[in-house]
Amino acid sequence: MSGAAPQDLAGQVAVITGAAHGQGRAAALALAREGVRIAALDVARPLAYPGYPMGSPGELESLRRECRALGVDCLSFAADVRDDAAVSAAVKATLEQFGRIDILFNNAGICGYGLAHELTEDAWDAMLDINLKGAWLVARRVIPGMIERRHGVIINNSSVAGLRGMGRLSHYAASKWGLVGLTKSWAIELAPYNVRVVALCPTGVNTPMNDGLAMLEGLTPQQIAERSAGNLLPMPWIEPEDVAAAVVFLASSKARSITGSEFVLDAGLLTR
Ligand SMILES: NC(=O)c1ccc[n+]([C@@H]2O[C@H](COP(=O)([O-])OP(=O)(O)OC[C@H]3O[C@@H](n4cnc5c(N)ncnc54)[C@H](O)[C@@H]3O)[C@@H](O)[C@H]2O)c1
Repeated sequence: MSGAAPQDLAGQVAVITGAAHGQGRAAALALAREGVRIAALDVARPLAYPGYPMGSPGELESLRRECRALGVDCLSFAADVRDDAAVSAAVKATLEQFGRIDILFNNAGICGYGLAHELTEDAWDAMLDINLKGAWLVARRVIPGMIERRHGVIINNSSVAGLRGMGRLSHYAASKWGLVGLTKSWAIELAPYNVRVVALCPTGVNTPMNDGLAMLEGLTPQQIAERSAGNLLPMPWIEPEDVAAAVVFLASSKARSITGSEFVLDAGLLTR
C-alpha cells in the first residue's frame, strides 16, 4: 500500500463514537454524503451521570437507514467507550466487515455542572473516563491498522473548554484539556506513519447535550449556550452541521498538512 493519502474520501471508513445524535450523527451523515462507510458507536442507553438523555438504539437504527439511503453501508454498535471489550469487538467487526479504518472521530462525551468542592467522585470519574480515557481506549484499537496502512486521521472532539477555564465545569475542562494533550502527543507518535491527529474545539453547539444541560439547570437551551459561551458573532451557538463540515475537511486530503493542532470553531469567543 502506498503512503499517499487518497485524493477524496469516497470508499474510506470512519469510526464515530457518540454517533446516535448530536454532533456525531451530523458528522456521520456528512461523511456518508462523501461516500464514507460508517461504523457508528454509541452507549445507546441512559447513564446515571450526567442525568440527561443519551442516544438510543432507535436513533442508531435511523442513522443506519439514512446512511443506506445515501448509498453507503453503516454498522452500528451499542457500546460504552469505557468498555474495552465492547470497543475492541466493535473495531474488530468493523475491520472484518469493511477491511480498513481511515477516520476515527472520538466524539462521545458528557457534560455536567458542579463547583470543584461540590463534585462527587462519581461525577469526576464518569467525566474523565468517558471524555478522556474513552478516547484512548478506542484509539488504541484503531491506531495499529492506521500505522500498518500508513494512512489515517484521528479527530478528538475537545471544546473551547479545552483551551480556557470554565467555572462549574472544571472536570469537563480537565477532560477537554486532556484531549488536547492526547492530540499533540499522538500526533508526534503517529506522524512518521502519515497518520494525522487533530483536536476540534467548538463553542456551544445546538445538540441534545445543550438541551439536557438546560433541563438540569432549569434554563432555556439558548440561556445555557449564552452563559457558557459568549460568542463574538451574533449566534448563541453553532449547529452540529458546522462541526460536521469541519470533520469532513479535516478528514480529507485537503487538510493533509494539519496535525497536532487545535481546529477552533468558536464564533470568535476566544478573541475576547
Ligand atoms: N454541545 C456542545 O455545546 C459542545 C461544545 C463543544 C464540544 N462538545 C463535545 O462534543 C461531543 C459531542 O457532543 P454533543 O453536543 O453532540 O452531545 P450529545 O449529548 O448531544 O451527544 C453525545 C452522544 O455521545 C453518546 N455517549 C455519551 N457517553 C457515551 C459513552 N460512555 N460511550 C459511548 N457513547 C456515549 C451519547 O449517547 C450521545 O449520543 C462531546 O464530546 C462534547 O463534550 C459539545
